[in-house]
Amino acid sequence: MEQTFLMIKPDGVQRGLIGEIVGRFERKGLQLTAAKFMLVSRELAEIHYAEHHGKPFYEPLLEFITSGPVFAMVWSGDNVVALTRAMIGKTNAIDAAPGTIRSDFSVHTNLNLIHGSDSPESATREISNFFRPEELVSFEHHI
Ligand code: CMP
Repeated sequence: MEQTFLMIKPDGVQRGLIGEIVGRFERKGLQLTAAKFMLVSRELAEIHYAEHHGKPFYEPLLEFITSGPVFAMVWSGDNVVALTRAMIGKTNAIDAAPGTIRSDFSVHTNLNLIHGSDSPESATREISNFFRPEELVSFEHHI
């Protein structure tokens, strides 16, 4: 079964949207595998956003992601990377399709509520940046 790394960003936490966003993934039928309410250090932010180093929005992005607590998660399920990206919507709120998290709750590209891995390979890397292997809980659904 595939895994992905999802992170509710400081704007989502401060707007009280953790429950709303987590609820969407739960109702979809995806499986929560790990979760952590935490502050992102400058060092971790640089590792997570290494691909954006040098871009004009890099410094503001690092300032933003380290500005307050985030809710970091691992979710599991068939095709979970593509499914959750579809549910999150495009980076730019204007392009995000109605019904997606970013369309329903955000206006700005910078304050776009949630991060989702863009491929299974990115997911593996991002999960290991944020979680130790023993923090992932694998279990069978019985209901
Ligand atoms: P995300 O895709 O989670 O990771 C990179 C983030 O950079 C992106 O969300 C946006 O929040 C932010 N960002 C700000 N400006 C831009 C831009 N012009 N293009 C892409 N990402 C941007």
